[in-house]
Amino acid sequence: MTRQFFVGGNFKLNPTSLTASKSLIDVLNKGDLDPNTEVVIAPPSIYLLSVLDSVRKEVKVAAQNAYFKESGAFTGEISPKQLVDAGIPYVVLGHSERRTIFHETSELVATKTKAAIEAGLKVILCIGETLQEREAGKTAEVCEAQLKAVVDGIKEADWSKIVIAYEPVWAIGTGKVATSAQAQQAHADVRSYLAKAVSTSVANETQILYGGSVTAANCKELAKQQDVDGFLVGGASLKPEFIDIINARR
Ligand code: G3P
Repeated sequence: MTRQFFVGGNFKLNPTSLTASKSLIDVLNKGDLDPNTEVVIAPPSIYLLSVLDSVRKEVKVAAQNAYFKESGAFTGEISPKQLVDAGIPYVVLGHSERRTIFHETSELVATKTKAAIEAGLKVILCIGETLQEREAGKTAEVCEAQLKAVVDGIKEADWSKIVIAYEPVWAIGTGKVATSAQAQQAHADVRSYLAKAVSTSVANETQILYGGSVTAANCKELAKQQDVDGFLVGGASLKPEFIDIINARR
């Protein structure tokens, strides 16, 4: 089973001007990108439409979050239906910053995932453990619990709309990238959980991305791991080296 290499760029709350956003897109539009890599960028929601309008068509666009209601009295939220209507095909859900800063539980992430898929979106589903949980040997247990909430809420066929991003919290924004062995082990554990909890074909077909201090310097080694199908990149997605990460398997 060959899973397509997939690189996502999570811009988070960056940049802070439309002009800066346009120059980021300009770098991507001029880049020599590996045509075998699926590329998805997630700008802040205020720039979604301008990015969709200006980025090269082979690069897809994702929202960084969405609610689970279609419409109503939910101030500040964006609905999956509105994203689909605007032509946005992907949404990132369950990012650790949503879980820790905005107190999103795995149950809420699962509800959002189900609603996003039902509306027609593809989901980049983030999971990952804290340093304390890793040091306690609970990495697999934590990731399984985060995934179980989604497993319990969706149908087997829905997994074709999900890309999983394993992002150890202790590696996000810290410069402390996971070793290839750590990433491979965590991804293999996720894949074996999917085989047990869903099916062998879902386990084999689901792309599992690594996220957490990925750079042009460390991406090639990580990309060699058999269960690393790509990356979800934060800080480096805002720099020209994002092109090198997209081309990590070239
Ligand atoms: O979603 C990707 C992000 O959490 C990783 O951030 O800056 O460590 O690449 P960074």
